[in-house]
Amino acid sequence: MNITDTKEMKMIQAILGTIDEGIHAVDANGITIFYNHVAAKHDAVEREEVLGKHLLEAFPSLSASTSTLMKVIQTGEPIYNQHQSYYNIRGMLIDMVNTTLPIKVDGELVGAVEIAKDLTKVKQLSEKLIDLQAKVETAQRPKKERRSQTGAKYHITDIITNDPVCERLKIKALKVASTSSPILIYGETGTGKELLVQSIHNASPRKSEAFIAQNCAAIPSSLLESILFGTAKGSYTGAVDRPGLFELADGGTLFLDEINSMPLDIQAKLLRVLENGVIRRIGGTKEHGVNVRIIAAMNEPADVCLREKTLRSDLYYRLNVINLQIPPLRDRKGDLPLLTDHFIQKYNFLFGKLVTKVDEEVKVRFNQYDWPGNVRELEHAIESAMNIMDGDSITVEHIPMHIAGDTPAPERTKPISLQPLRQALIDTEENLIRQALAETEGNIQKAAKLLEIPRQTLQYKLTKLNIL
Ligand SMILES: Nc1ncnc2c1ncn2[C@@H]1O[C@H](COP(=O)(O)OP(=O)(O)OP(=O)(O)O)[C@@H](O)[C@H]1O
Ligand SMILES: [Mg+2]
Repeated sequence: MNITDTKEMKMIQAILGTIDEGIHAVDANGITIFYNHVAAKHDAVEREEVLGKHLLEAFPSLSASTSTLMKVIQTGEPIYNQHQSYYNIRGMLIDMVNTTLPIKVDGELVGAVEIAKDLTKVKQLSEKLIDLQAKVETAQRPKKERRSQTGAKYHITDIITNDPVCERLKIKALKVASTSSPILIYGETGTGKELLVQSIHNASPRKSEAFIAQNCAAIPSSLLESILFGTAKGSYTGAVDRPGLFELADGGTLFLDEINSMPLDIQAKLLRVLENGVIRRIGGTKEHGVNVRIIAAMNEPADVCLREKTLRSDLYYRLNVINLQIPPLRDRKGDLPLLTDHFIQKYNFLFGKLVTKVDEEVKVRFNQYDWPGNVRELEHAIESAMNIMDGDSITVEHIPMHIAGDTPAPERTKPISLQPLRQALIDTEENLIRQALAETEGNIQKAAKLLEIPRQTLQYKLTKLNIL
């Protein structure tokens, strides 16, 4: 190895040292060749005790069959996202998700690397959340009438529409509210899925029981299972008896949002619960019967989810007993006047204003616009206008530029002053990003989807443009 190689090696080591995930690499003989500070912290050992040593010598409690690194060296097959929960030798509870990959050079297996994500904090937070939810449930049990106030606040009359398809949907929702059959809902972002689900719960005989909503995309998949089904003491070191959301929602409704983000093995478990009506806590032996109505929602059409295999077909058929589809706003522009008026009244009340209308030109622009963020986007456009306006009428100057469109508006007829192209591009990019974030209420994942760029790219641009 010449000097440059050594320098490059040192640089690579320094780079890997800055990553805040544990990295542990061994050569084909099981000798540790790289072990960063984070990995050493998880294992509560000094790096020097591990570097250059054989894995089983450095970690005597492991064996060739229990060590994932050794397994990968033997099989050459990767092991993805393995959840491990253990106390290290300092007595710290560590919750990790490990991915172990073979390292191949010119097709030959030369070693293996393990990348360990620390979930301890996320897990503690989500467990706290469940404990709090359980406390709220217990505290409210004697006062049933108060209970629905914390769960579902919307009623079917809160769904503002005069569109014939949506009106039929409301009638269907009221009818199906009386049964316990599963429901599958599809609607683009901002079409009012949460509104509809809460309304169904509140129109159902379960209205004074729990309403619990869980977004399946919001929780790391390795934790979702214990959140849904609970854990039993002893299922892994440090595990305590904890009910899952199914038990907390017993007698009521469990809304599983973005079900197409749920890992397929958990979807299989969900199907079993739907079929047998019993759950077993992770690591537990006892089965609990639960009486929960499941409402699931997807933000992609079913045929796409089935084709892309993000939704199991057996679960789809079980959930699809009742199917509700909310049309996007662009397909029901007849709803625009009613919704516009509704949001003007809402913000008049909140802001203490006396706005009465939108002017004709705004109506035209609203009708021409595509509304990719649906009703939520309309609400935000009106909220934003009512923040900046005086007087009683919303005019085209008050509404976001992308909705106002290209047709000349008074100031826009003036020639645009020239500016360097590079700066103009940066400004445009920043505007589009801010707009996407406003429409998705700051949700980076969703904003990236609207902008059709990877989430990581958006994250990078946010840092670069100093947004957030
Ligand atoms: N028909 C409607 N009448 C009144 N308000 C509505 C209607 N549809 C949606 N909204 C409002 O629009 C916003 C978005 O609705 P909601 O959160 O139910 O959408 P969603 O489909 O669940 O969106 P996402 O997929 O992004 O979670 C809420 O503030 C809701 O009150
Ligand atoms: Mg929603």
